[in-house]
Amino acid sequence: MKSKKWLCSLMPARIVFLISLIIIIAVMVGLGYIILKRQPKVSLVEACPPTCTPADALYRNADLPVDQRIDDLLSRMTEMEKIGQLVLVEKNSVHDSDDITRHGIGGMLSGGGGYPKQNTPVAWLDMVRGFQTKAKATRLGIPLLYGVDAIHGHANVIGATVFPHAIGLGASHDPDLVYRVAQATAQEMLATGIHWNFAPDINVVQDTRWGRTYETFGSSTELVTSLGLAYIEGTQSASLNSAKAIVTAKAYLGAGAMVWGSSSNKDFKIDQGNTMADEKTLRRVHLPPFETAIKADAPVVMVGLNSWNGIKLSANHYLLTDVLKTELGFRGMVVSDWYGVYEIPGGEYRAVVTAINAGVDMVMLPFDYKSFIGYMERALENGDISSERLDDAVRRILRAKFVAGLFEDSSSDGSTLASLGSPANRSLAREAVRKSLVQLQNNNKTLPLSPNTDRIIVAGSSANNLGRQMGAWTVEWQGIDGNWVPGTTILDGIKATVSPLTVVDYSLDGSFDKLPNKATVGIVVVGEAPYAEGIGDNAHPSLSAIDLATIERVRIASQRLVVVIVSGRPLELPAQSSNWDAIVAAWLPGSEGEGIADVLFGDYPFRGTLPLEWPR
Ligand code: BGC
Ligand code: BGC
Repeated sequence: MKSKKWLCSLMPARIVFLISLIIIIAVMVGLGYIILKRQPKVSLVEACPPTCTPADALYRNADLPVDQRIDDLLSRMTEMEKIGQLVLVEKNSVHDSDDITRHGIGGMLSGGGGYPKQNTPVAWLDMVRGFQTKAKATRLGIPLLYGVDAIHGHANVIGATVFPHAIGLGASHDPDLVYRVAQATAQEMLATGIHWNFAPDINVVQDTRWGRTYETFGSSTELVTSLGLAYIEGTQSASLNSAKAIVTAKAYLGAGAMVWGSSSNKDFKIDQGNTMADEKTLRRVHLPPFETAIKADAPVVMVGLNSWNGIKLSANHYLLTDVLKTELGFRGMVVSDWYGVYEIPGGEYRAVVTAINAGVDMVMLPFDYKSFIGYMERALENGDISSERLDDAVRRILRAKFVAGLFEDSSSDGSTLASLGSPANRSLAREAVRKSLVQLQNNNKTLPLSPNTDRIIVAGSSANNLGRQMGAWTVEWQGIDGNWVPGTTILDGIKATVSPLTVVDYSLDGSFDKLPNKATVGIVVVGEAPYAEGIGDNAHPSLSAIDLATIERVRIASQRLVVVIVSGRPLELPAQSSNWDAIVAAWLPGSEGEGIADVLFGDYPFRGTLPLEWPR
């Protein structure tokens, strides 16, 4: 009390007030500074009508070699224009499409489920064309790369042909087939104005508990290498006017060897996990498909979301720059995957600096492009990223764009939209289904079945379910369970194949109590519901209790039992399965379910063999 009185007597109220005011102002200025510092400043690219770049600029001349065109274009670009090229943003994160012009955005994508308001082929074309127009309205008119996950057909689009997932193609062991599937997929993409596929996945899978097993061609390095090459060549053979389709060899590197329980994502078990392999194994088992892809001129490599010995791949200078770019001579661009860059520890700014310096060229942000542009400006200003590294990244991105023929205004004119889901492509998909089927068991020559069988009963969770047949990455990221997307169910395929006199009865759960006698044949189609990525990590992939109960009911109600398994990976079968007459692995066959009846009823032989081990 005493001391306070003493202070107050020394300081008149006015001085106290003044000092407090100064302190408050200082705190506010300090806070403002901190906030401003955290919010990166973002410059825009220079505005100027396209005419301000002469029409006869070398980079516009399609007759010149790509390197010369790149040199010319790069020499005209400002720093902000270069930074814009590194941006890859998910289309739902661009709320004002003028931003594409203002920031000179280099790439956009549709994530799984990233369809336009109306999910029709023509709406896709309109959407992509609209974005492209905004990109071309920039000073230099650099077109966008638009990417999609057409990993088993252009299957984000309702009405597209849905081919078997890669694991089924793996079972075909047929490079010619894979070439044609990739080509047809690319033609359907190009028809909607899209050049860039985030496929093929050329990981060599070692642990089938991984939810992405079906995205790969299997567990053998040789198989993955040869089918990966076929997929790349098939895609690159597709064209529409001057438009070319381009692939993404993904996901570099070693995701097939991640360790169960090591995921960096708390909701997953193995996906986005840690690859524990020594360098020798990495090079012997996992690198060859990428070496081959690079020799085949794949213009893009996507970095995995995994870590290698604890370090995120997108931060790994040794693997991205020393091995991929220097040793293997990769001249294309490295694109990061989804939020992968920001998963590098140390905060967003540090993460961007680390990833770009490690060798990432285009960054799938995938959401906030403004902050990324700000980080890049700051990093260049601070010297944390060199202008040489920036130029190198831009060069690689531009190369992919020139290879895709984007500068020749090749955006589709809509003339081939009818190729989506065309009879020719559906018939190819059906052929792929036939060639992917693997006969796991055939007691007493049960297969092939006679199309003249008098009564067939059909049951099971996947018998009349296109969503399960197609798996994920179909319209929605996680797929859609049930009959929502056009196609032919396995049940319909059976009905269409048997003789007109054959009676086909269907019951989802196999309740055929009212049958007077045992049916001659029972076909039960069971397996997995759709899943994508880590959502599908499963400690114990096996048939569900419901599926087993259905099988048991049909076994009792029929003389011969055929079990067809629709799944993205091998499922553990129970001991009693040795009493099932026939077992067929159908993988995730896609929209053309009739391909299964083609083989069950002997119109075509079984040709597929296992692309990975099926534990019995
Ligand atoms: C997946 C990639 C995919 C990308 C874009 C990521 O989450 O890992 O395989 O290409 O999303 O949809
Ligand atoms: C997107 C996918 C992406 C995933 C990554 C989803 O929302 O649609 O394309 O792969 O997120 O977690």
